[in-house]
Amino acid sequence: MTTSARQRLTVFGAGYLGVSHAACLAELGFDVLAVDTDGARIRALSAGDLPFFEPGLEPMLRRGLDSGRLCFTDSYQEAASFSDVHFVCVGTPQRADSDCADLSQVHGCIDALGPLLKNPCLVVGKSTVPLGTTAALASKLVRLAPAGAAAELAWNPEFLREGNALEDTLRPDRIVIGVQSPSAEAILRRVYAAPLSAGAQLFVTDLATAELAKAAANSFLATKISFINAMSEVCGSAGADVAALAEILGADRRIGAAFLRPGLGFGGGCLPKDIRAFVASAAQLGAGGSLAFLREVDAINMRCRARMVDLARELAGGSLVGRAVSVLGAAFKPDSDDIRDSPALDVAKTIHDLGALVTVYDPIAMDKARQARPELKYAESLLDAASDAEVLLLLTEWHEFSEADPEILGKAVAQRKIADGRHVLDPDIWRRAGWDYRAPGRPNQAYRVH
Ligand code: UDX
Repeated sequence: MTTSARQRLTVFGAGYLGVSHAACLAELGFDVLAVDTDGARIRALSAGDLPFFEPGLEPMLRRGLDSGRLCFTDSYQEAASFSDVHFVCVGTPQRADSDCADLSQVHGCIDALGPLLKNPCLVVGKSTVPLGTTAALASKLVRLAPAGAAAELAWNPEFLREGNALEDTLRPDRIVIGVQSPSAEAILRRVYAAPLSAGAQLFVTDLATAELAKAAANSFLATKISFINAMSEVCGSAGADVAALAEILGADRRIGAAFLRPGLGFGGGCLPKDIRAFVASAAQLGAGGSLAFLREVDAINMRCRARMVDLARELAGGSLVGRAVSVLGAAFKPDSDDIRDSPALDVAKTIHDLGALVTVYDPIAMDKARQARPELKYAESLLDAASDAEVLLLLTEWHEFSEADPEILGKAVAQRKIADGRHVLDPDIWRRAGWDYRAPGRPNQAYRVH
C-alpha cells in the first residue's frame, strides 16, 4: 500500500453518504473517483447536479469537479486501478420482508471489487451494517482478491447527520477506525489528518467494535428520543408539561439536553431501520435479550405518530372526515428533502386515509413527497397551505414554520387551531393570538405560575 502527497481514493456508492464523503475528501485535497452502478446518477453528478438536497453540498461537488480532483464513474475496473484505498459507502436499507438490513449492495460491491484487487490495498467500510457483517466481509475479501491477505478490510463508521453532513464530515467529534494492521491505521490517519489536527478524537479499535460503535450510537440517540416521548405519554395522563420536563432533565449535565426534544419522534433513512437491524442481528448472534428494550423504543416512537393523529382528530372536533387539515412539513427533519420513513408524511397519509382533506407544504421536499404520496394535495407556500385550513399540523420543524406569524396565518385559516408536533412554537404567543394550540404531552390550557 502506498501513500503519496496527493493520494488517490475511491468511494463506492454515490448516495447520500458516498457523495458527501467523496466531495469532502476532494475538498481536503485528495484525488477522488466516486463509483456507482447507476449510470444516470453518475451522469447527473458529473454535470454537477445533486440528486438530493444537502446544504452546501452542491457547490462543494462543483468545486471538486472544476478542480479536477473529483470524478465519477460506473466502472469498477477503472476504480480498482485508480487507487489502493477504497471506501465503501453503499446503502443498507431495511429489507421489505423483515427487520433485517438488506446487505445486497455491500456484498455486491465486495463481490465485484474483490476479484479486481491484484495489489495490496485497503477496503474501508463506512456503510452502517448489522453485527457480524465485518467479519464476513473481511474473509470474503481475502478469498476473492488475487492479492489475498494483502487486500485488507478496515471499518470506519460514519456518524454524519443529514442537513449537517459537510460539517460532520470535515469537523467530526470523533473518528472511529477498526483496523487489522498498523499499516491500515497509518493510511487512515493520513486520510483524516485534517480533521484530526482540527481536534477530532481518534479511536483505533478492532473491526467488531467499530461496527458496533455505529449501531450503539444510533440506538442510544433513538432511546433518548423515545425516553422523552414516553415521558410525554405520562405527562398526558398526569397533567404535566413535557416541554418543561425536557428542560429540567436537560439541565442535568449528566443527562444533557441533546436529543431530548419531545414530539413526533424519529424517522429518516437511519435511526428506525438501524435499530431494527441491530436487534435482528443481535438475536442471530444469541444476544437478542440484551436489545429487547429497543423494540419498545421503536414501539414508543411509532405511537408518537398515532398520538399525533389523535390530536388532529380532537382538534377537528372528533372526526377527520371531510375536514381541511394542512400539514406543515414532509421531510423527516428540516434542512433535508429526505422523506424516507418521514413521521410527517406518515401522519399526513393516515389522516388522508381517515377522510380528511389533506394539504401538505414543505420548503424543500415537495417533489419527493409528491412522488411518494401522489394522493395528497400540495400547496405552493406556507400561506397557501394555511388558506382555509380548519386544522394546522406542524410536523417538521423548518425555520419557516417555527418563525411563522400567528396573526398572518390566523387571517388565512378557517379556524385558528394548531397542533405543534415538534414543540417549536411558543404556546403563550399563539394562544394570545386566539389559537387553540396543542402539543403532545402539554396541557391544553396555559397555566403558567411565575
Ligand atoms: C442520525 C444520527 O444522528 C447520525 O449520527 C447517523 O449517522 C445517521 O442517523 P439523521 O438521520 O440525519 O442522523 O437525523 P438526526 O438528526 O439524528 O434526527 C433523527 C430523527 O430524530 C429526526 O426525525 C428528528 O426529527 C428526530 N429527533 C431528533 C427528535 O425527535 N428529537 C430530538 O431531540 C432529536
